Amino acid sequence: MKLAYALLVTLADGRFHSGTEMGERNGRTRAAVWKAIQSLQANGLEIFSVRGKGYRLAQPIELLNRGIILDGLDKRASAALNVLEVFNEIDSTNAYLLEIAKQGEATGYACLAEQQRAGRGRRGRQWVSPHGGNIYLSLLWRFTGGVSQLGGLSLAMGVALRRALSEVGLNEAQLKWPNDILVGKRKLAGILLEMTGDASGPCAVVMGIGLNVRSSPAHMLTVEQDWVDLQDLLPEAIPRNHLVSRLLSQMISVLEDFERHGFSHFQSEWNAGDAFAKQTVELHLPDRRIEGMAQGVDHSGALLLERDGKLERFHSGEVSLRGRA
Ligand code: BTN
Repeated sequence: MKLAYALLVTLADGRFHSGTEMGERNGRTRAAVWKAIQSLQANGLEIFSVRGKGYRLAQPIELLNRGIILDGLDKRASAALNVLEVFNEIDSTNAYLLEIAKQGEATGYACLAEQQRAGRGRRGRQWVSPHGGNIYLSLLWRFTGGVSQLGGLSLAMGVALRRALSEVGLNEAQLKWPNDILVGKRKLAGILLEMTGDASGPCAVVMGIGLNVRSSPAHMLTVEQDWVDLQDLLPEAIPRNHLVSRLLSQMISVLEDFERHGFSHFQSEWNAGDAFAKQTVELHLPDRRIEGMAQGVDHSGALLLERDGKLERFHSGEVSLRGRA
């Protein structure tokens, strides 16, 4: 175990621990402990240092724990999940599972990380992924049919996320087409689907979820969009491992229903959670911007936009939606 992670395991209880005690426990010097504490701070953790007392996390933290997550899964998810890996640090959970997919690993492979060094967002953006209590989760799923059968899958994942949030007491989460989760128009979570395989034959999809649970503003400075985290929205901290169990259970349940029925099964649920229903929105197309009234999504997950009394359909890809004041 790397020293920084070993220290974090000790500090997770939110109490003071002296540098000497932590150094001795790990067979390292106080100077090495000090350096490791600095690296944790640089990665997003707020740690106080008080002379004569030692180090303390600003708030206790529940570290991700594979056993607790597996114990909390629904029966259906337990049966379908073949592998769950938990990392302290990784470049990107999505990138990792795409590699795993190329190596031919089975379906139902999930991974999580406390921190991502190169978290990926949609449209080639970075997903800022500091240490400190957010969720970075990816799930690999194999489909026997081609990519054409997967229209609406990313929207269906939004439905899964919304269900999981409601299970932990957050009923205000809304969906922004194609797949952001908003509360009061601020972004709480994002979903990134990446695929490998055949356009017409078997393919593997990696579904990545980034959920702001406890995000330190100092480490979110580069995030352009307005964001919010669960800590701000709920009266009590939600145990993170429980939240991951709910997320994975809902994702797997939605995937199994999606395989059987397609997106149409989720259309009305998606529309019930639409953050922009009947609002004037702006669509950014590759070559121009247009305005219209958002009228939800159709059975395939295409956005319906009303313009001059006519309903037009837009598929995701190069289209992005903005709300209007
Ligand atoms: C978005 O831009 O809204 C999508 C963000 C998706 C971020 C998640 S975090 C876990 C997974 N691994 C990544 O590198 N990205 C996704």
